[in-house]
Amino acid sequence: MQFEPLEVVAAAVISNGRLLLAQRTRPAEFAGMWELPGGKVEAGESPADAVRRELAEELGVVAVAGARIGVDVPLPRGLVLRAYRTAIESGIPQALDHSALQWVSAEELAAVDLVPNDRIWLDDLKAALAV
Ligand code: CDP
Repeated sequence: MQFEPLEVVAAAVISNGRLLLAQRTRPAEFAGMWELPGGKVEAGESPADAVRRELAEELGVVAVAGARIGVDVPLPRGLVLRAYRTAIESGIPQALDHSALQWVSAEELAAVDLVPNDRIWLDDLKAALAV
């Protein structure tokens, strides 16, 4: 059987030419830096299920995951981080698990203090914002 690493999903929510970013509160090393909201896929969940649950928990919205964006990012302890284009179906995002949220344009994104893993997707995110 092929080994399938445990996945962490990250949601690239784009609306009106802007990407939704969330500011981390932990760990200390990354506190204050910005990321795509998301988290670990739990047992029995598909990645799309995990995006839906994480965005409900972290942002208080109903969301639907779509196509992958960017490369797989290997994380410590056999985890892999994957980003998904995500649409908000209902609700207004609130920072329930982060210190703040912001919507950034492609130009603004370049200047944001992104967590290092998410920075790997910078060009993909900028391209997604340009269309
Ligand atoms: O909330 P949960 O424990 O499910 O996941 P998390 O702690 O938010 O994320 C799991 C791991 O993925 C952590 O090491 C995060 O730093 C990393 N991560 C990331 O690098 N970029 C993201 N956009 C989301 C998570």
